[in-house]
Amino acid sequence: MKNLLGLRFLSKEEIEQILQTAVSFWEVLQRPIKVVPSLRGKVVVNLFFEPSTRTRISFEQAAKALSASVINFSVSYSSAVKGESLYDTVKTLEALGADFVVIRHPSPGASLFVAQRVSVPVINAGEGATEHPTQALLDMFALKMKFGKLEGLKVLIVGDIVNSRVARSHFWGLPKMGVKVRVCAPSTFLPLHFERAFPDVEIFHRIDKAVEDVDVVMGLRIQKERASGELIPSIEEYVNFFQIAPEYVKDKVLMHPGPVNRGVELPPEIVYGKGSIILNQVKAGVAVRMAVLYLLGGAK
Ligand code: CP
Repeated sequence: MKNLLGLRFLSKEEIEQILQTAVSFWEVLQRPIKVVPSLRGKVVVNLFFEPSTRTRISFEQAAKALSASVINFSVSYSSAVKGESLYDTVKTLEALGADFVVIRHPSPGASLFVAQRVSVPVINAGEGATEHPTQALLDMFALKMKFGKLEGLKVLIVGDIVNSRVARSHFWGLPKMGVKVRVCAPSTFLPLHFERAFPDVEIFHRIDKAVEDVDVVMGLRIQKERASGELIPSIEEYVNFFQIAPEYVKDKVLMHPGPVNRGVELPPEIVYGKGSIILNQVKAGVAVRMAVLYLLGGAK
């Protein structure tokens, strides 16, 4: 692996290697001094063209725990505002000594575009609606912590599939790990030709049927910033038919990549309730991103 652009491009063995490496870093993070020298002297640039709390901060924590230094690029204070191209921005960062580029961008293909034009490893930190590979990897890590394995689990993903890069990464990744995947959404929240693209994923339009015999229910945020509200008659109707009500998760594990629209895809009382591993997902993010940086660090 030179880059991490998507789970589409990784084998089962490569995913297992990342998850196994993350176990070692998880142990490091339980120590009083949560730092190892693996990337001392290296520079990680967080190049975020969209807002982020979890991903940006956990990449920063991961880089610092590996003794790398971190530059947080803020688009609103950068020359991108003056019209500088993405290409010129990344070539400038490379000339300034970046050893890794971690990129979040609204355009599908932005991370591949960058990876083809710089010599340092590029990590997709969420791009358009294509993939968010480190989120899917940390979800797998959190599932392994909970169940001890991935093989044989049944995961239901509910919500705004069409705009979800997290869901896309799971559709590529989870079946490789032996996980059965279902989705439940209004038809307008499914991409065109979904069945052809992901024939192994089962489709449901009624949540009471979809939750039957699954181990895990994962909610997705309705992405209002991507005009998802126009794909459904109203938020109230979505809530009536597709909200993950407490009875649907009473004996199941609840996940959500965050941020949560409280009261829309999840009622507030279940966000951190019994069965929720949402904060475990957040914690897993640091160890998994350490593993990704560490494994890619040998590639330069
Ligand atoms: N899950 C996720 O990508 O969250 P942030 O947008 O806060 O990084």
